[in-house]
Amino acid sequence: MKLYDVYPLFDIAIEKGKGCKVWDDQGQEYLDLYGGHAVISIGHCHPHYVEMMTNQLNTLGFYSNSVQNPLQRKLAERLGKISGYEDYSLFLVNSGAEANENAMKLASFYNGRTRILSLEKAFHGRTSLAVEVTNNPKIIAPINANGHVTYLPLNNLEAWKPELEKGDVCACIVECIQGVGGIRMVDKAFLQGLRALCDQYNTVLICDEIQCGYGRSGKFFAHQHLDVKPDLITVAKGIGNGFPMSGLLISPKFEAVYGQLGTTFGGNHLACTAALAVIDVMEQENLVDNAREVGDYLIKRLKEENLPHVVDVRGRGLMVGIELDVSYKEIRTRLVKEQHCFTGCSGTNVIRLLPPLCLSKENVDDFIERFKKVL
Ligand SMILES: Cc1ncc(COP(=O)(O)O)c(C=O)c1O
Repeated sequence: MKLYDVYPLFDIAIEKGKGCKVWDDQGQEYLDLYGGHAVISIGHCHPHYVEMMTNQLNTLGFYSNSVQNPLQRKLAERLGKISGYEDYSLFLVNSGAEANENAMKLASFYNGRTRILSLEKAFHGRTSLAVEVTNNPKIIAPINANGHVTYLPLNNLEAWKPELEKGDVCACIVECIQGVGGIRMVDKAFLQGLRALCDQYNTVLICDEIQCGYGRSGKFFAHQHLDVKPDLITVAKGIGNGFPMSGLLISPKFEAVYGQLGTTFGGNHLACTAALAVIDVMEQENLVDNAREVGDYLIKRLKEENLPHVVDVRGRGLMVGIELDVSYKEIRTRLVKEQHCFTGCSGTNVIRLLPPLCLSKENVDDFIERFKKVL
């Protein structure tokens, strides 16, 4: 059998990782400013993570959601504390799309409505509702185009207001820093205005923190820079440092109903152990503060260098977009091939940096030197 060919791939096989570095099967070292698409939060192969996962595997890998799982309770407690959402509840699933899918289902169970408002350039995943609220017609199959969604412009509350005033909107879904959309940031006035309108019209506010959350922005959640509390918060990527898992933080205004949501794999023993190890390391190594400090340094250095082709540098913490006046393609490829440095991209001309949250200032200096050579 051959692989179903949907990914354009670099001709590189990554075999090993440590911290912010990875190595290919030829032994070549790379600086990782991409974190496997924002997934590696505490660094590759962190010894505490490896030890906890190994112990758990030697004890129990999986049992179903039909019995007590104390690891889930422990995770909910720890996540509540570290995120500042101790009064919310946690529902665990397996991927970002699945978390968003469940968030929108919960919103619809709550107010009985079916319309969703989403941002232009939004990306929320590839399952049926998640892809429908994703503003990319190329990945919405005819079976997913069910007319639930209106896309509206970023930071333009006047465009959102008349839609909410109709009183039929189930939920608004927002990434406070758009990732795939090119590191575009929601502003405070917009999100606070949206919160007030959602309260007024009994609409559920969902913040998708799958890429911008879990410490990446320099606060635990990106929306916490904007002083707003969403009703539902979705998390994935960095939560398990590579172990596939995701979750939904649910405000106390929702009442759980037996059987309404469910999953076979979600919140299994290995997944919870991965998430607990991540929180341990985030706390022990102050990774949220590190993301803020090193992120500020990265943005400052990128701006100060007056680099050729760079027309804008934006972002928060370790979620940074470098907008170029040319396509990112050659630059990103040469960064990998010649400078051995992984970065991400968005649209046609934005280099997107999503490194592990343990990135150091030395790593930043190293990246700037490599980037300069390519430019
Ligand atoms: C903001 C956001 N939401 C949702 C998703 C979907 O996550 P997953 O690929 O785990 O389904 C992504 C993935 O890139 C994302 O960046």
